[in-house]
Amino acid sequence: MSETTARKFTLLPMLGHTKGKRSAVTCALKCDNACSGDVCNTSSNSYFRDIASATMSRRAALGFGAAGALAVVLGSAVTSPESASAAGLSKAAKEGFGKSKLQFTAIPSIDASVDAVTVPEGFTWKPVIRWGDPIFNDAPEFDLNNQTAAAQEKQFGYNNDYTDILEVPGSKGRRAVLFANHEYTNENIMFPAAMPAEQKRAVGAAAHGLSVVELERKNKNDPWTYVKGAKLNRRYLNSTVYELTGPAAGSSLVKTAEDTAGRYIKGTLGNCAGGTTPWGTILSGEENFNGYFRSPGTSAYDKRYGLTDKATARGWENDEDRWDTRNAGYENEANRFGWIVEVDPFDPTSTPKKHSSLGRFKHEGANVIIAKSGKVVAYSGDDERFDYLYKFVSKDYYKEGDRKHNMTLLSAGNLYVAKFTGNSPAAEITGTGNVPSDGAFDGVGQWLPLVVDGKSAVPGMSVEEVLVYTRVAADKVGPTKMDRCEDVEPSLHTGKVYVACTNNSDRGKKDALGKYTTEPATEVNPRNQNRDGHVVEITETGDQTSTTFTWNLLLVCGDPAQGDVTYFSGFPVDKVSPISCPDNLAFDSVGNLWISTDGAPSGIGKADGLFKVTLEGAERGKVEQFLAVPNEGETCGPIIHDEERTVFVSVQHPGEEGSFEKQHSYFPDYVPAGATPARGQARAPRPSVIQVFRG
Ligand code: FEO
Ligand code: CA
Ligand code: CA
Ligand code: CA
Repeated sequence: MSETTARKFTLLPMLGHTKGKRSAVTCALKCDNACSGDVCNTSSNSYFRDIASATMSRRAALGFGAAGALAVVLGSAVTSPESASAAGLSKAAKEGFGKSKLQFTAIPSIDASVDAVTVPEGFTWKPVIRWGDPIFNDAPEFDLNNQTAAAQEKQFGYNNDYTDILEVPGSKGRRAVLFANHEYTNENIMFPAAMPAEQKRAVGAAAHGLSVVELERKNKNDPWTYVKGAKLNRRYLNSTVYELTGPAAGSSLVKTAEDTAGRYIKGTLGNCAGGTTPWGTILSGEENFNGYFRSPGTSAYDKRYGLTDKATARGWENDEDRWDTRNAGYENEANRFGWIVEVDPFDPTSTPKKHSSLGRFKHEGANVIIAKSGKVVAYSGDDERFDYLYKFVSKDYYKEGDRKHNMTLLSAGNLYVAKFTGNSPAAEITGTGNVPSDGAFDGVGQWLPLVVDGKSAVPGMSVEEVLVYTRVAADKVGPTKMDRCEDVEPSLHTGKVYVACTNNSDRGKKDALGKYTTEPATEVNPRNQNRDGHVVEITETGDQTSTTFTWNLLLVCGDPAQGDVTYFSGFPVDKVSPISCPDNLAFDSVGNLWISTDGAPSGIGKADGLFKVTLEGAERGKVEQFLAVPNEGETCGPIIHDEERTVFVSVQHPGEEGSFEKQHSYFPDYVPAGATPARGQARAPRPSVIQVFRG
């Protein structure tokens, strides 16, 4: 079925806002309408270094060899020279709390329709790289009206989400490498309506995947510029081969006609959040991969992963048999997506990995911390209504300076899923968000085993089945159904783990007789029709590898001024920036949490943004908004270089609800109406990575 005319590519209808958090267009293109379809989890369960290498510097941790020729992750968590200690809690870390060099006055909430980047007084912003910017020497300049797949393969992709910036070894802060993933495309605003469907599919496909691009600057603290043709630059495309590692590699569940060994997978899809490892590689989460496949949709496995028998939004199944798992030989193709991907941005010839040991689900991302024992612990959320939170513990130990070894650590280990138990009476969890009488949403938790010592811990399932059908395996052991776990990130200052639960409009739904049709509020997900989301704070019992923990809610989000029931860890609600739909998390060098949001326009009715949250001391729970993104955009991939007074974010899907002929955003070029765009510019929204700095 390789002819391209088999089915007509239809543009998605411009619907109004859905009942969920996003615009209808975002829902359709990003998540295959996950929130308006049936709940995938119909299981009956659950109704009712520690601090990274204590004394080790991050330079050494990355393991590039001799001092002075080392890559340093410039990001907050990793810049702090003596990153945190096990007692972690180290003196340095404690002293550092709240003393960031990045001082700013919070911006007010910005109306959702404002087509501008809003930053605090005294700051300015500039793109680092935009959709379509040429990456290689032979790449053409972006030309909105003459796009081709060949050009797009050599240009920066669309809808950047997870982003990090790592210093190039030996460059003294003058050279860095930027990683960004490209979650999905919006053909409605990328291409003229008259462009042939085949061309839209081809260019759109080439705009997916990942990008690695070198950056340079003359002086430290100058803004970064990307370097066209630099030797580390790379585009990861649908044709790029990833090696599957861990127990599912070679399994009959992942073999296809093209890959009879079940070990080599072409492409990565739906990449959302991610994480940077202590050894300087990037992890990226394959999230809404189901929307790219047409499938029988009849098996319990297909249903649990939202795979259906309908034409996909992008229609790639018209061009390649593998996107339709009804085709003989490709029945398992969808099993080859939904993994955590690991990429070495310092080696453009390396083979990227997909790690089966971390399980297969709609991974938002994954973030790693090194336990006291030296084992590596990775946390990952499954972003779907009523799905779960997971934790991986490596079999082997981290070896300082041995990068090659450390790059094998995510290939073997134990996998767990979280169960949260509240400590307040059920009657006090009213579904409104009102805090129970003990003053906190809190309790204890267990990490329930799915895979232990390379063997399945789930009765009736092999280890390969547990890892390929992880949602189904988890259903059998009774974890807690969560309100869409997005980014999950451990603090390298304290070892505490933060979980952004973005929202769940379906929690506590009732039928006409007043009977619940979905699970109602629990203490860890305490609001019915949870519109604005919350943030969970987890404290592992002892070592980070522990199978028990305590937890509490750090934030119950919303806008107090609009009468929303909120909770900011006791901080006065009239002294915070309103916040809705927490999504990506990051830390600055002194241990403050930063949260970017996705969905605030349909929540509190304001633009999405980036917020700093103080975690320690008298101002714990204070939320301060740092920036807001343009009309219909989402804030992604925050990087907080507070020591350089610089912040980076990926601006994703600006102007999402427009059309090519009637755009809703002109970010970031803002070419005036009637003006001829300068070379490389466009009068159209271009998802971009931007830097915000003093100036
Ligand atoms: Fe791609 Fe869970 O957001
Ligand atoms: Ca309680
Ligand atoms: Ca996200
Ligand atoms: Ca993160």
